Amino acid sequence: MKNVLVTGGAGFIGSNFIRFLLETEQEIRITNLDALTYAGSLENLKDICTNERYKFIKGNICDFALCTQVIQDFDIDTVVHFAAESHVDRSIEGPAQFIETNITGTFTLLECVRSIWLNNRKHPLDDFRFHHISTDEVFGSLGINEASFHELTPYAPNSPYSASKAASDHLVRAYHKTYGLPVTISNASNNYGPFQFPEKLIPLVILNALEGKPIPVYGDGKQIRDWLYVTDHCIAIWKILNNGKIGETYNIGGNNQPTNLEIVTIICGLMDEYQPNHAPHDRLIQFVKDRPGHDRRYAMNIQKISHELGWTPRETLQSGLRKTIEWYLKHNQWLQTIRDQNDYQHWVIQNYGKRGVKK
Ligand code: NAD
Ligand code: DAU
Repeated sequence: MKNVLVTGGAGFIGSNFIRFLLETEQEIRITNLDALTYAGSLENLKDICTNERYKFIKGNICDFALCTQVIQDFDIDTVVHFAAESHVDRSIEGPAQFIETNITGTFTLLECVRSIWLNNRKHPLDDFRFHHISTDEVFGSLGINEASFHELTPYAPNSPYSASKAASDHLVRAYHKTYGLPVTISNASNNYGPFQFPEKLIPLVILNALEGKPIPVYGDGKQIRDWLYVTDHCIAIWKILNNGKIGETYNIGGNNQPTNLEIVTIICGLMDEYQPNHAPHDRLIQFVKDRPGHDRRYAMNIQKISHELGWTPRETLQSGLRKTIEWYLKHNQWLQTIRDQNDYQHWVIQNYGKRGVKK
């Protein structure tokens, strides 16, 4: 039995990862440590909360005493560290929480595992692993003809969010180089799929299309993202945990790079199929005031993970978007609960009020 600590497991990717692991691996026990911020919800884990191989602990990764106790009490040998503040627009409105959670929180966790695994360990060091989940945004922004990000691309983060994630990546790397902590890092591109909070582009577009509300496109809509279906991300993380090389980082991407306007238009087309009486949904698209410091283009070179670990994404953009839209159409109750619980309307007014969205 492996004892896995998932931090941030009540959020979007963490909850998908826990579900994926419980479904595919029998020899695993999971402890989920999550502070339940606005972005986390136990609604995301309702179907698995009674699984006897799963345990939820409400708590903050900045709390050294609590993290130490959890790692000791549950005999944790593997940490998969998702917990973070994750939304770029919120980091522009209020960066302080990003510094606290993403940098101090990661530092606190590393200190816990350093003291337990290096100084007071019961098992050989080879049995431990700290896997840090990071983002392609640490590499900054690409020009239209520039080669995609690879693992050795220099860091050049542009938002408080990406700067805080870059700092956390450096700390994880430093704990490996300095203390010999067995770490791996993955930098992934934009995820989408079930259980994503509708502050992010894809669920926001689906939700607004469902409700006939304006679909806000920042700036000229020609920014490019590399879209990764969340289950493909979970599979990649598990492959790295099993077969990745200690001390290495791996890029994970979806092998597609539409512009924002293209992906919004594709979603509107799919919504026309699912709700023909509300077609055409692209009439809802509105160009609004841009995000400050908006990165123009991300693209991931995934040769390393593909050659070393045999991972490539299974979903195409079309298949992943269909699955995602169908999931949101079937989970209207989840959407309502999550919006009420997490003060969604307040965020909508704060972020979109000043962008000039017309009703
Ligand atoms: P999310 O915002 O949906 O979830 C974050 C989770 O962390 C929430 O459950 C929240 O309650 C929890 N959390 C926040 N602060 C905490 C704290 N101090 N202590 C304990 N728990 C805390 O995020 P996500 O989209 O699932 O992203 C997960 C990770 O993946 C993040 O590290 C993010 O940087 C990274 N990532 C995300 C994407 C993406 O497209 N969403 C892409 C690449 C990497
Ligand atoms: O690239 C990986 C990153 O992807 C993750 O590290 C972050 O946690 C995750 O939030 C995401 O960051 P983005 O800023 O790229 O995602 P977001 O969904 O916020 O925006 C995607 C693109 O769409 C971006 O260019 C901004 C644009 N956008 C976004 C929103 C919310 C719009 O045009 N309109 C919107 O209303």
